[in-house]
Amino acid sequence: MVTQRLAADEGGVTRAAEILRGGGLVAFPTETVYGLGADATRPEAVARIYAAKERPRFNPLIAHVDGLPAALAQGTFDGTARRLAEAFWPGPLTLVVPAAPGCTVCDLARAGLDSVGLRVPSHPFARALLAAVARPVSAPSANRSGRVSPTSADHVLGDLDGRIDAVLDGGETQVGVESTIVSCLGDAPRLLRPGGVPREAIEALLGRRLESVPGTGDGPLAPGMLASHYAPRARVRLDAAEIRPGEAALLFGPHSPSGTERAVAALNLSETGDLAEAAARLFSCLRRLDATGAEAIAVAPIPETGLGEAINDRLARAAAER
Ligand code: TXA
Ligand code: MG
Repeated sequence: MVTQRLAADEGGVTRAAEILRGGGLVAFPTETVYGLGADATRPEAVARIYAAKERPRFNPLIAHVDGLPAALAQGTFDGTARRLAEAFWPGPLTLVVPAAPGCTVCDLARAGLDSVGLRVPSHPFARALLAAVARPVSAPSANRSGRVSPTSADHVLGDLDGRIDAVLDGGETQVGVESTIVSCLGDAPRLLRPGGVPREAIEALLGRRLESVPGTGDGPLAPGMLASHYAPRARVRLDAAEIRPGEAALLFGPHSPSGTERAVAALNLSETGDLAEAAARLFSCLRRLDATGAEAIAVAPIPETGLGEAINDRLARAAAER
């Protein structure tokens, strides 16, 4: 199969929507990372996502829709879910809610669950595409399973060229880490995966602490992700106070750990210590350091506040035993 690179303009969006409505696979930019989209109502289209990514089955996928009305048709929102949706959509938040009686997201996309993960992305081309498709679109990150998430069309093609119908090229994504996932199934909302909306912003809105589901991030309740999901080829060493010989260095902030001068390569996520900038650069910096062939990537400490929680979550996965 030849993968088309479509310009993110009206013509490209129209073509991408046709492909999706015809059951094909299109990677498209969102504000977080590029998603690999398929018509969520067609199991044979959704099955092609798993095949292209070589993703283990039975992971529920996030269904993307173009606004709150479309989301309300798919899921049953309690008061908390509604407040979160109104405050953070469109944007990098996914809500897991009970599937509505008329939910058209197919069983395969929901991994057989009676809940559904819904998100309204804010990226203008994602929204234009979703409006043109006029159906929910399932879209995990557009990378092969176990690889680093893509933040540009070139990353997508590096992993999936020849395996998908098209990529809508919208340049670099803004946020750089995936959406925050909040489950609104029980009495209390729970954080299933830290991401682009900081926990603090959600807690401030709801006026309560968000319980994290231990060991999930993307695990059991949010089924599906292996601990080593975000894995470069190089070993990843966290909280590095010094850089050892043979290592590449991933830095944060104005101060460099000792030994940085002899690093195989060094990249700074944000010299000013700006966590939003760091999140946006995270995956592309990991890819670039990995490409140097260094045996290990040493990562300087990153604060656990705001977007730092999502950054550290992704880095912990990249560092996990595999
Ligand atoms: O930023 C993002 O969220 C990106 C972009 C493309 O939108 N998408 C993304 O999708 O990361 P995906 O399919 O990789 O996220 C799947 C995760 C699952 O592993 C699970 O954690 C959660 O979403 N999820 C989806 N539906 C769920 C459900 N019904 N119950 C529990 N977790 C669910
Ligand atoms: Mg992913």
